[in-house]
Amino acid sequence: MKPIQVGILGIGTVGSGVFNVLQRNQQEITRRAGRGIEVTMVSRRNVAEAQALVGDRAQVVADARAIIANPDIDIVVELIGGTTLARELVLEAIAAGKHVVTANKALLAVYGTEIFAAAHAKGVMVAFEAAVAGGIPIIKALREGLTANSIQWVAGIINGTTNFILSEMRDKGLDFAVVLKEAQRLGYAEADPTFDIEGVDAAHKLTLMSSIAFGIPVQFDKAYVEGITQLGAQDIRYAEQLGYRIKLLGITKRTAKGIELRVHPSLVPAKRLIANVEGAMNAVMVQGDAVGTTLYYGKGAGSEPTASAVIADLVDITRLHSADPAHRVPHLAFQPDAMSDLPVLPMGDVVTSYYLRLRVADQAGVLAKVTGLLADAGISIDAVLQREADEIGGEGSTQTDVIILTHDCTEARMDAALVQMQALPTVLAAITRIRKEELA
Ligand code: NDP
Ligand code: HSE
Repeated sequence: MKPIQVGILGIGTVGSGVFNVLQRNQQEITRRAGRGIEVTMVSRRNVAEAQALVGDRAQVVADARAIIANPDIDIVVELIGGTTLARELVLEAIAAGKHVVTANKALLAVYGTEIFAAAHAKGVMVAFEAAVAGGIPIIKALREGLTANSIQWVAGIINGTTNFILSEMRDKGLDFAVVLKEAQRLGYAEADPTFDIEGVDAAHKLTLMSSIAFGIPVQFDKAYVEGITQLGAQDIRYAEQLGYRIKLLGITKRTAKGIELRVHPSLVPAKRLIANVEGAMNAVMVQGDAVGTTLYYGKGAGSEPTASAVIADLVDITRLHSADPAHRVPHLAFQPDAMSDLPVLPMGDVVTSYYLRLRVADQAGVLAKVTGLLADAGISIDAVLQREADEIGGEGSTQTDVIILTHDCTEARMDAALVQMQALPTVLAAITRIRKEELA
């Protein structure tokens, strides 16, 4: 049978990985797919660069639309990134009847509803394994492998850049800015690294996992997003002393009231496997009612790890493209007419536990006032750690740090208690609040 023909829009880090792995493993991939998969066209504005990558093995064009317009191309792979041109090109490819593969989580998290509806109407597939956790086949696991389960929650380290930064800060005591530069040099960071460090990239990925896990529409605008830029080295140290590691987690959970969808730094017990995921590695935990807890670990970024996921999608499409569209795996795991309208909960309704650090005057009765306010708010304390004043401000210091771990309460209740604690004259600086997840 004639090989299926693929065009790559944007042959950069991921695109070159796709091209190279397909060439290298061509025979085995053909044996699996039942048909050859050939990249016959690639696009990049810097044509000379693209030409150097592909030689005479594929046609190079500057205009990505030339690929979409070519009737011989069966699958368009969008690897340009961003949400403006990429959105136009993906919609144009769908309108032209092409199947689409993309690694672009920002695009799908923001415009997924529009794109999946267009693909459904046209009877084409939009596959996006590479968009979440790079090389880890988590989309396939959630959409197919765990299809028997009522999923209860998903929690993951789904941004390599921030995990790399947190690991290096903890292990080597390096500064945030130094480690970020290194992550950029290594190619982990997004074109705009604020997407990584402010939690936006993780929220894009979490939004997609949440849709697939719970059969809800893609709703990035409802996600709570907090990054790692405000984390202090001392909190990483104190967490360690209390038996926890701080990780940037994406958490989505089904509750009786609705769906939690949140990205923020979290204390995780050091004994959990996920707490020991270091460097740029990613890991996703999924809790299903039948299977229990499962854990998926691997490289969340990089040229060939991400290419591995893109090519898995190419093989899926090659196997399924002649099947009746109604018999294919739905884009978001649930049939389009069977999506749930469970609301995404506002952050105030989220229930979790907390790490609080208060810089206080080292005086009698200070701790009692703080714990009294928590008691009045109905927030139960799990542990308290008080540092020696000398440790904080040197000999003769009149200030100290009090660290409090709480049991579960709603975020709204904690917000109200924080306002009261902050107003105490003996609380000398902004209180640090980090959420804590036991992931048991
Ligand atoms: P790169 O910047 O390395 O590659 C993007 C390519 O697109 C560049 O080669 C650029 O080349 C080309 N390009 C830009 N504009 C156009 C245009 N108008 N027409 C044609 N080509 C164009 O990005 P990545 O490969 O790293 O990322 C691609 C996508 O994959 C993004 O959505 C990213 O979020 C996602 N992703 C990346 C991962 C990674 O590890 N890098 C991991 C998982 C997902 P030129 O400027 O010469 O046009
Ligand atoms: N910037 C992303 C990360 C790349 O650091 O994980 C993979 O999506």
